[in-house]
Amino acid sequence: MAQVAIIIFLLAAVMAPLLALAELPRVEHPPHRYGSLNVLAVGDWGRRGQLNQTLVAKQMGIIGKRMNIDFVVNVGDNFYDNGLTGVDDKAFEESFTNIYTAKSLQKPWYTSNEMLFPSLLNYGFASFLGNHDYRGDALAQLSPVLRQLDRRWICKKSFVVNADVADFIFVDTTPFVLKYWNEPKNNKYDWREVAPRESYIANLLKDIDSALKQSTATWKIVVGHHAIRSVSEHGDTEELIEQLLPILKANEVDLYINGHDHCLEHISSRDSPIQYLTSGGGSKAWRGIFTPNSDKLEFFYDGQGFMSLRLSKAELHLAFYDVDGKVLHKWGHTKPVQYY
Ligand SMILES: *[C@@H]1O[C@H](CO)[C@@H](O)[C@H](O)[C@H]1NC(C)=O
Repeated sequence: MAQVAIIIFLLAAVMAPLLALAELPRVEHPPHRYGSLNVLAVGDWGRRGQLNQTLVAKQMGIIGKRMNIDFVVNVGDNFYDNGLTGVDDKAFEESFTNIYTAKSLQKPWYTSNEMLFPSLLNYGFASFLGNHDYRGDALAQLSPVLRQLDRRWICKKSFVVNADVADFIFVDTTPFVLKYWNEPKNNKYDWREVAPRESYIANLLKDIDSALKQSTATWKIVVGHHAIRSVSEHGDTEELIEQLLPILKANEVDLYINGHDHCLEHISSRDSPIQYLTSGGGSKAWRGIFTPNSDKLEFFYDGQGFMSLRLSKAELHLAFYDVDGKVLHKWGHTKPVQYY
């Protein structure tokens, strides 16, 4: 009897890490009461309210209330210029808690980063790390201590939010970009729990592929910090076109949402259903750079703002807003409802 118990114990000890590796962490977000899921997406914001961050936050509060949003998708570059120095960095409150104060924004903020937090269900701002966040103490942004300071903060490196009609797959894109490894210039990147790059990326791509294959939601939405397609300053991210995009196309992903370029963009793929959406207008903007690419540009705004999504089983509606809450661009799409 004792031997059997020991064998089971050993098996469990061996299996647990394997099982954990095979899947991205998951967050179940409860379905919206009225059958549609409403979210806002914002990125590239943490500047202690400066450079119109406060104006964007105010309009997010107004639109968030009107739509009765479920959560916020935070596409990264959370704290400028160099992430957080540690869990006690006051920038967390000065750039997040004290800025996004509207009642309608007291929802989870899902942010891509690595740790699992308990009782994720009750709150919501989905967040993850941008390249600027990796220049500070990257692990601090993942720490449960921040969640004690502001319970909206749900930050992991890569994870899945199952939200009924839609699955959101948050991908940690910073490690893909070779120049951060090879030419960091004067910036120091915190690659703890990431390096070596090749195996980290290979595992991540495998996990993304299997998460997409498992998804039964109507809408498959992938969120990254870096653009796959962008006409602004940073442009396309070649590493993502080569490595991530084939997986998105093979799994019929509907939307890819990102920040990094400080503007608002909607680009349609010419050879797949993917819509590329940049919502990086959370603070500093107006770069004055425009470089078209071969996909179809539907909309480009070089200034500050944010994006909303309304999703039901059959319909998807997205909109972009400026700092006055004016709708700059709208787009919709429908799919036949599946009856079983
Ligand atoms: C803030 O937004 C207004 C309206 O779009 C714009 O005119 C102004 O230049 C912005 N300020 C900064 C610092 O970007």
